[in-house]
Amino acid sequence: MRLSRYFLPVLKENPSEAQIVSHRLMLRAGMIKQQAAGIYSWLPLGLRVLDRIQQIVHEEQQRAGHIPVLMPTMQPADLWRESGRYDDYGQEMLRIRDRHDRDMLFGPTNEEMITDIFRSSVNSYKDLPLTLYQIQWKFRDEVRPRFGVMRGREFLMKDGYNFDLTREGALHAYNRHLVSYLRTYERMGLQAIPMRADSGPIGGEDTHEFLVLAETGESEVFYDSAITDLTFGGRQIDYDDADACRAVLEEFTSRYARTDETHDEALFAQIPEERRRTARGIEVGQIFYFGTKYSEPMGANVVGPDGQRVPVHMGSHGIGVSRLLGAIIEASHDERGIIWPEGVTPFHVGLVNLKQGDASTDSACEALERELTARGLEVLYDDRDERAGAKFATMDLIGLPWRITVGPRGLASNVVELTSRRTGESVELAPADAVARVAEVYAPVFAASWRG
Ligand SMILES: Nc1ncnc2c1ncn2[C@@H]1O[C@H](COP(=O)(O)OP(=O)(O)O)[C@@H](O)[C@H]1O
Ligand SMILES: [Mg+2]
Repeated sequence: MRLSRYFLPVLKENPSEAQIVSHRLMLRAGMIKQQAAGIYSWLPLGLRVLDRIQQIVHEEQQRAGHIPVLMPTMQPADLWRESGRYDDYGQEMLRIRDRHDRDMLFGPTNEEMITDIFRSSVNSYKDLPLTLYQIQWKFRDEVRPRFGVMRGREFLMKDGYNFDLTREGALHAYNRHLVSYLRTYERMGLQAIPMRADSGPIGGEDTHEFLVLAETGESEVFYDSAITDLTFGGRQIDYDDADACRAVLEEFTSRYARTDETHDEALFAQIPEERRRTARGIEVGQIFYFGTKYSEPMGANVVGPDGQRVPVHMGSHGIGVSRLLGAIIEASHDERGIIWPEGVTPFHVGLVNLKQGDASTDSACEALERELTARGLEVLYDDRDERAGAKFATMDLIGLPWRITVGPRGLASNVVELTSRRTGESVELAPADAVARVAEVYAPVFAASWRG
């Protein structure tokens, strides 16, 4: 992509309405534009990251055996009357009446609708286990939408729902989600810690939230610092192996880690004092097991092996897809701008031409762009007629992790400069070696990608 032909409306000034750094940087880097309180347009750069995050979520869900669907954003109120939540949900639900006076709503979540899909076509335990998921826009009329995409009213969520014959089966689904979430967040360069949480309006007994530690987080969290040493890494887990999934859950929940809703001072006090931490966190996901809470009132039953009809055991599992952009930026930025982790960066590499219009510099840049692209790398080529300082400032602001700088002086001795956004370190390399180095950096990112 050539910057001269792109749409990247960066802001020079700090927008006054933005209270936290991720919101400020997303506006300044031309990623989003607010259209109403808590409602945003996604501009090209923001959309690229949103797509990258969705792609990782899809891959990790499908790797775990979960099946994508897409439900509408608009739902009939009657489904919610069946579960009893139409009256319970309160003002966060945006209620709409259509021209025929039918009560509709913009879905804040989809337990009822997925249960309706399930009950209309599944009758036998032989069709279980089943986990369906979607990535779809939700609307919650939050009292105080704030911090940009962190607490929006319209926001993108991955919501998944498991259907199992038994409680045991559903707990395996719960553990499988925990494993897949750990993988998902790590691919985005994030450490998200599962913490025991409160179930809120979804209901149910078992639930964990995944929190990214950040000063600007809305949740107060209490944890044993030993938990931050755990990483999922490159482990291969067989998702059908219930014991293997349970072992991961046990490992990652073996240390004290709770949000303020479930915090227990007496238990916390048992941790050695030097490991006790009180901090703030951003909730980027949550998993629930709620048994037959929806299947029973809505009649989502299957015939079991003994011929008896029984309600299925369910759980629901969410990832805050649009919120993740904010969480990643909160965790990864400096005073000059965003620093994207390689797994989610909007472009893999930025290319800066120091002397636009100089025939040999231009053609060296074009050759680099071609060679990087041929290796599957996405390039943002700053081919504008601008000062070097302005080009560097833009690249630093938008946070591409790698930059190749090309100028006549270097080219005279056949070198270009490769710079890491994270460390600021530069090395001079022959153009072909710079391409090879960038390809090497991204090799693990490409290898982590999965298609079933
Ligand atoms: N208003 C919002 N704006 C952006 N993301 C949200 C919002 N509400 C929830 N999310 C994201 O969606 C995920 C799943 O939602 P859920 O757990 O049902 O919401 P809540 O935490 O409000 O009960 C949350 O973990 C969070 O990351
Ligand atoms: Mg939640």
